[in-house]
Amino acid sequence: MRIISTERSQVLAARVAEKLGTPLVETKFTRFPDGELYLKCRELDDETLIVSSIVDNDMFMQTLLAIDAADQSRNTLVVPYLGYSRQDKRFSPGEPISARAVARALSAGVERVYVVNIHDPGVLSHFGVPAKNVTIAPAVGGYIGDLRLKKPLVLAPDEGAIDFASDVAAVGGWDCDHLEKTRLSGEEVRIAPKTIDAAGRDVVIVDDIISTGGTLATAACMLREQGAASIHAACVHGVLTSGAYTRLRAAGVSSVVSSDTYENASSFISAASAIVTAIREDAHR
Ligand code: R5P
Repeated sequence: MRIISTERSQVLAARVAEKLGTPLVETKFTRFPDGELYLKCRELDDETLIVSSIVDNDMFMQTLLAIDAADQSRNTLVVPYLGYSRQDKRFSPGEPISARAVARALSAGVERVYVVNIHDPGVLSHFGVPAKNVTIAPAVGGYIGDLRLKKPLVLAPDEGAIDFASDVAAVGGWDCDHLEKTRLSGEEVRIAPKTIDAAGRDVVIVDDIISTGGTLATAACMLREQGAASIHAACVHGVLTSGAYTRLRAAGVSSVVSSDTYENASSFISAASAIVTAIREDAHR
């Protein structure tokens, strides 16, 4: 078996390769003069693991090209970050279900798919091949443990994210709660933990995605007003668009960390172990 990575998943692919003891395929990425993407893989084998986060349209196209380049082998696709997965419903008539469109396209030419902390596990049903969601909640919890905070309070930004936050908190047996928005008047809302007082606590807000940082920055400002001793943010997919990192730090968030599913300078957590464990479990079935 060999591992192909697209351009924006090279670090994670190398970590997966190291843990599996499987060689990486050297791949050249360029463009034709008209802007169309081109790639060329060196030695392929009869079995290929393609590691490719769909962080933008180019990576979507590179993934399709990589799958096609490996058309002579049995292919498994690892999509650590599945872009377009937040448009998982037709919110109004005339819209596409973008997550479905992407999942269908990625299914051609692969036997199996792994994704990491997908926004809505319902999207898995849109793949035309067996697809599994891998959680890195234990790795996020491990990172929080390394921060050596005193009795941290792990908070989900909303009730929908509580399962992930609970799994993270379980690593250290930490307190866990979710934030709740209460409308105080026409103009005023209060965001606070549903049951646990944040005053004097080291708070870690955890989420699947930090995109613009708006959700967490608003929560952080309110938690500071409520007397939190410190506020940290940890997520799986650090999309960090529109100046999100600065926005969070300016809002009083002491540290912002994400994983290598979306490679950037805050990717201190790795999804490699969880991915390799899932692949091995299925291989031994
Ligand atoms: C929403 O359901 C997600 O779990 C995240 O909370 C959301 O994508 C974060 O977006 P932003 O950082 O733009 O507030």
